[in-house]
Amino acid sequence: MQDKVVLITGGAKRVGAAICRKLHAHGARIIIHYRNSREEADNLQAELNQKRPGSVALVQADLLDTDLLPDLIDKVTRRFGQLDVLINNASSFFPTPLNECTTDAWDDLIGSNLKAPLFLSQAAAPYLTAQQGCVINIIDIHAERPLKQYVIYNTAKGGLLSLTKSLAVEFSPAVRVNGISPGPILWPEDGEWKDEAARQQIIASTLLKRTGEPDDIAKTALFLITDAPYITGQIISVDGGRSIHL
Ligand SMILES: NC(=O)c1ccc[n+]([C@@H]2O[C@H](COP(=O)([O-])OP(=O)(O)OC[C@H]3O[C@@H](n4cnc5c(N)ncnc54)[C@H](OP(=O)(O)O)[C@@H]3O)[C@@H](O)[C@H]2O)c1
Repeated sequence: MQDKVVLITGGAKRVGAAICRKLHAHGARIIIHYRNSREEADNLQAELNQKRPGSVALVQADLLDTDLLPDLIDKVTRRFGQLDVLINNASSFFPTPLNECTTDAWDDLIGSNLKAPLFLSQAAAPYLTAQQGCVINIIDIHAERPLKQYVIYNTAKGGLLSLTKSLAVEFSPAVRVNGISPGPILWPEDGEWKDEAARQQIIASTLLKRTGEPDDIAKTALFLITDAPYITGQIISVDGGRSIHL
């Protein structure tokens, strides 16, 4: 990991922040992308830069603005002169039962979960190729096992799963592209899934009878970057066994 440059979208908090901390602790230089979480991004940057001054930079963008994605990659590569790893972690997540699907919801969910990873990867391709780097897409076990009333989110993550495999083909042999599919790690912040019975039902459906930790995803990302030179086009479920038990 030493001095590799890693861009993590939606990296200011929660799972993204755990990935930042883990990769930074192993020597990476980190670009934390954020949209609204300015304060969390500033705090995480300060925390990590205190350990190694100048090792963490921030970049702000709404990933729905596809035209600006090449500019985002340009800013990243100008900051550290290279890009070794792109982690597509940013994601919107909200229910869209079939009769409530709107084009706005489609644009938001598909935009953040699928369209941005494609066009960020496209813009980053020359830099990742030069570094023989890798891409990691954070997917969801619901890409393959639909969550009821989340029609568009499931579709977006299903697309991201397929995109992961397509990009592995397109980028080969220079760049490896893999996905991580989390199960229940952190409950959403926005009030969804507040119901304790619903949470317990999800936990009961895992084989390990508990939620995972953000660090479980971070460890898997570290493995895919540093210790998996012959793995590409694969999706690793990190879900306490839930995906084989649903
Ligand atoms: N948490 C879980 O248990 C779980 C389970 C399955 C899959 N996953 C996947 O794991 C990843 C991380 O999960 P998480 O729960 O930590 O994610 P999260 O908190 O729901 O979202 C991560 C970040 O995505 C950013 N984001 C959303 N829409 C954006 C947009 N249009 N433009 C730019 N940034 C945008 C937000 O950045 P700002 O805050 O800066 O606006 C947000 O902080 C996601 O891909 C998620 O789908 C998580």
